[in-house]
Amino acid sequence: MRIFIDTANIEEIEKAAQLGVLDGVTTNPSLLAKEKGNYKDILRRICEIVDGPVSAEVTALDVNGILAEANDLTRIHKNIIIKVPVTREGLIATKQLSEKGIEVNMTLCFSPLQALLAAKAGAAYISPFVGRLDDVSHNGMDLIEQIVQIYDNYGFETNVLAASIRHPLHIVDAALMGADVVTVPFKVIEQMIQHPLTDVGIKKFLADWEKVKKD
Ligand code: G3P
Repeated sequence: MRIFIDTANIEEIEKAAQLGVLDGVTTNPSLLAKEKGNYKDILRRICEIVDGPVSAEVTALDVNGILAEANDLTRIHKNIIIKVPVTREGLIATKQLSEKGIEVNMTLCFSPLQALLAAKAGAAYISPFVGRLDDVSHNGMDLIEQIVQIYDNYGFETNVLAASIRHPLHIVDAALMGADVVTVPFKVIEQMIQHPLTDVGIKKFLADWEKVKKD
């Protein structure tokens, strides 16, 4: 399973990249709005740090606008892939972009049927939002399971990118269900590393080793 980081914060991306386990980055307008500076410069810097797909989202809602923004964003760096919401216009634009060889990450997916349409339109990635479904009392992980099953049934090559991840158990479940990618906020990447028994174990090993050194 590939691990992307879900942020536009350069410091977080640099720290996560140092771990050597980062395969890509997802951004969205809300994440970019949190950062200071020109969004294109931020996206370019992200692409320099991470050698993998970097999702940049369009804000236009009509086909022509989406295509124009996609054209603009892909010029920033070869790592940029285009994030497009699953809408009627988004599907039409995705079909055209994918036919041109431009990778699209269809986002704001909340149903298996949206995911089916995204795959048929040629999206390279589908982003089901797990946490936001949990927020409204639907089990977000059920959606991941359904999409993985549907894509397997028909051999769709669209990658299932579990998004809106809020805690480590979402990642465990996504991995067990066979999601291709998980995009994780920095805080949750740090939580993935930690285990209290690892800390206790290190403390004990070091205490025992101190005794040996004294003997
Ligand atoms: O990248 C989009 C997605 O991961 C958003 O997550 O936490 O805002 O629902 P969240």
